[in-house]
Amino acid sequence: MKHFINLKDISKTDLRKIITDAKRRKNLRKKLNTLEIDKGSPLKGKMLVQMFEKASSRTRISFYLAIKQLGGGTLTLRSNELHLGQGGESIADTAKILSTYGDGFMFRTDSDKKVEIFKKYLTIPIINGLSPSSHPTQVLSDIFTVEEIKKKPISKLKICWIGDSNNVLSSLIEASVKFSFKLNIGCPKKYEPTNHIKSWIKKYSKIIDIYNDPKKAAKGADVIFSDKVISMHDKGNKKKKIQFFKKFKINKKLINSAKKNCIFLHCLPRGNEVDEEVFLGKNSHVWQQALNRVHVQKSILLYCFGKLR
Ligand code: CP
Ligand code: NVA
Repeated sequence: MKHFINLKDISKTDLRKIITDAKRRKNLRKKLNTLEIDKGSPLKGKMLVQMFEKASSRTRISFYLAIKQLGGGTLTLRSNELHLGQGGESIADTAKILSTYGDGFMFRTDSDKKVEIFKKYLTIPIINGLSPSSHPTQVLSDIFTVEEIKKKPISKLKICWIGDSNNVLSSLIEASVKFSFKLNIGCPKKYEPTNHIKSWIKKYSKIIDIYNDPKKAAKGADVIFSDKVISMHDKGNKKKKIQFFKKFKINKKLINSAKKNCIFLHCLPRGNEVDEEVFLGKNSHVWQQALNRVHVQKSILLYCFGKLR
């Protein structure tokens, strides 16, 4: 059974296969309407249970469309509507019940531990739809978007992240190792990745660099990524954190220190870490980035259901 929890645990070959499949499927359905099913209906009769402990627009809708376009269906749940963790039902019991009714489980959670417990007791694949430490479906889709726009393998590009050391960055770091691309991280000293992540990065010091100066991080970049300074699980002093990130705001001047045709990507939702001029400007491809999640989720589902060719 194949889970999709962290990019670092999935082989390079499988990650590349997912991207290749997504590209092929996207091309093949150019003339199809949103809810028309891909030829062969590869997930006919399958049900994906989606459960959210936190808000979601893109992940929720893209997984809904993804499974529909593959011929299956989805049931979307809020964890507080279930007995989960209250009324005497353990995660283990819920996991067994979900495995009885559904064929796959997509989970957005405020706890990495819960993902592990579900993984232990589920007999169906689990997909991490965002946890405090990881957002793997987002980042794999972003690699697809970068290669689609730049028409080159990401290993030939210089990628820059300006922002918090959050779940999206952790997955991007794992991706840089899997896909062998250069990654510059620009963030305040106080908000650098944890020592645990840094010691992991050390092994790959040739490809990952951390700068406390946004201009230095962005220099010569083909792609600049960002995300909200305050993530959904953030519990610290938000005002203070926003203050620390002030000089890391992505504006035209910062974009100009990157390559001339540099693209800007942001997973959304956004805060004020990026100027409106950049977010809606010609370097930005955020809407294409959001759309591509449907295409990549489909190939992630096929991977998990053992149907990826
Ligand atoms: N980018 C992303 O995961 O968006 P949602 O929080 O809306 O799912
Ligand atoms: N880092 C953000 C990503 C949202 C898609 C969060 O966790 O809230």
